[in-house]
Amino acid sequence: MAPSIQLDNITPNNKKLLQLINEVTLPVKFSDDYYKESSLNGFSKLSYYGETPVGVVKAKLQVPQGSSTPNIVYIESLAVLEPYRGLGIGKQFIDFIKQQAHISYIHEVTLHVWAKDEKVVQWYQKQGFVVKEKVPDYYKAHGLESPDALLLSLQV
Ligand SMILES: CC(C)(COP(=O)(O)OP(=O)(O)OC[C@H]1O[C@@H](n2cnc3c(N)ncnc32)[C@H](O)[C@@H]1OP(=O)(O)O)[C@@H](O)C(=O)NCCC(=O)NCCS
Repeated sequence: MAPSIQLDNITPNNKKLLQLINEVTLPVKFSDDYYKESSLNGFSKLSYYGETPVGVVKAKLQVPQGSSTPNIVYIESLAVLEPYRGLGIGKQFIDFIKQQAHISYIHEVTLHVWAKDEKVVQWYQKQGFVVKEKVPDYYKAHGLESPDALLLSLQV
């Protein structure tokens, strides 16, 4: 029988895994502040394939200027280790984020993605995301060649 795939909370004991998985999968590097406990909340999860941690999602609520009520769930990072891709783990993360948005009465999920990574852009489009805008030089500080990003949006 194939091992089960389950989401688990990110805690002080396992939060290093968030950093490790991000660092081996994503084209950008996050600051130490990104991994501070205060930035981890109900929108952050680890995915386990059996006993093995294989993926992470970290998202946050976004509050529009001039308001005190969040209206967007913004995915900061979502990554699955290469050998475990194509098993539905990424989709499970998106379903989890959609569910959290629903509970919070929020109707939009957004994220930035490296415009050059067509495969990942297509993957998000398959999950129902559409391109909201192109953001020139978004990843310039990260030293990526052709550093443009796409802001993707999903209505939930
Ligand atoms: C993008 C990523 C998260 C996808 O995770 P995953 O666990 O492999 O995706 P899933 O297995 O859940 O894919 C689910 C569906 O997408 C389909 N799919 C996979 N790759 C696809 C692609 N390139 N284009 C379109 N559909 C794709 C699968 O066939 C599956 O379809 P189904 O539900 O009809 O069977 C993973 O590839 C990844 O971590 N990439 C590198 C990190 C990255 O760049 N993250 C994005 C920046 S935030």
